[in-house]
Amino acid sequence: MNQPVVEELFGTDTKTINRYVDILASRGVERGLIGPRESERLWERHIFNSVAVAPLIRENASIADVGSGAGLPGIALAIARPDLSIVLVEPLLRRSVFLTEVVEELALGGRMEVVRGRAEDCVRTFDVVTARAVAPLGKLVGWTKKMFLPEGELLALKGASAAEEVAAAATELEKSGLVADVRPVRAAANLEETFVVRVRGVSRETDL
Ligand SMILES: C[S@@+](CC[C@H](N)C(=O)[O-])C[C@H]1O[C@@H](n2cnc3c(N)ncnc32)[C@H](O)[C@@H]1O
Repeated sequence: MNQPVVEELFGTDTKTINRYVDILASRGVERGLIGPRESERLWERHIFNSVAVAPLIRENASIADVGSGAGLPGIALAIARPDLSIVLVEPLLRRSVFLTEVVEELALGGRMEVVRGRAEDCVRTFDVVTARAVAPLGKLVGWTKKMFLPEGELLALKGASAAEEVAAAATELEKSGLVADVRPVRAAANLEETFVVRVRGVSRETDL
C-alpha cells in the first residue's frame, strides 16, 4: 500500500478504506467474492482502479453502481467521495447480503443503499451509472440506458479494451441515440492509466 497516495485519494483518516480492504481480503475471499490471488493486489488492481473514475463525477451526484459484486467501484467511490449518494445494484443474493453487511459495518448507510436486482429491471434514474467488469458495452448500454437518460451518463471502467468495446457497440449506441467517448484516467499521478467509456444521449454530445 502506498500511504501518500491513499491519503491523497481518501483523506488523512484512512481507517474506513483500510477496514474495507481488510474485509475484502478476509471475508471477501472466504465467501468467494474475491479470488484468493487477488488479496495480494487489492490496492493496485481494485481500489485505485475503481477510484480512477472519481474525477469524471460531478459533486453531489446520485450514482447507481450496477453489478457491484464485492462493492467495486461503488464502495471505494463512496469512501473517497463523501459528497456522493450511491445505490449498489447486484442481482446475486450472496453478493447483495455481503454488500449490505459491509455498508452497515463501514457506517455508509446514510448515503448508500443496496438493491438486489438486475440493472435492466431497475426503474430509478441517476446522474451517473457506473459499471466495472459487468458486461460488454453494447449489452451494458441496453441494460442501463433507462437508468441514466435523458440527462445522465454511463461511466464504464473498461481498461485497455475501451476503444474496441465502443466500436463493437456502435449499432446499439446509434439505435439508442447515444454517443460514447473514451476518457483516459488515473487515480493519482504515479499510478497506472486506465480507460473509462462515457456514454450519453446525443443531445449532450457537446457538453464538456
Ligand atoms: C465480474 S463481476 C464484477 C464485480 C465488480 N463490479 C468488480 O469490478 O469487481 C460482475 C458482476 O455483475 C453482476 N451482474 C451480472 N448480470 C447483471 C445484471 N443484469 N445486472 C446487474 N448486475 C449483474 C454479477 O452478479 C457480478 O456480481
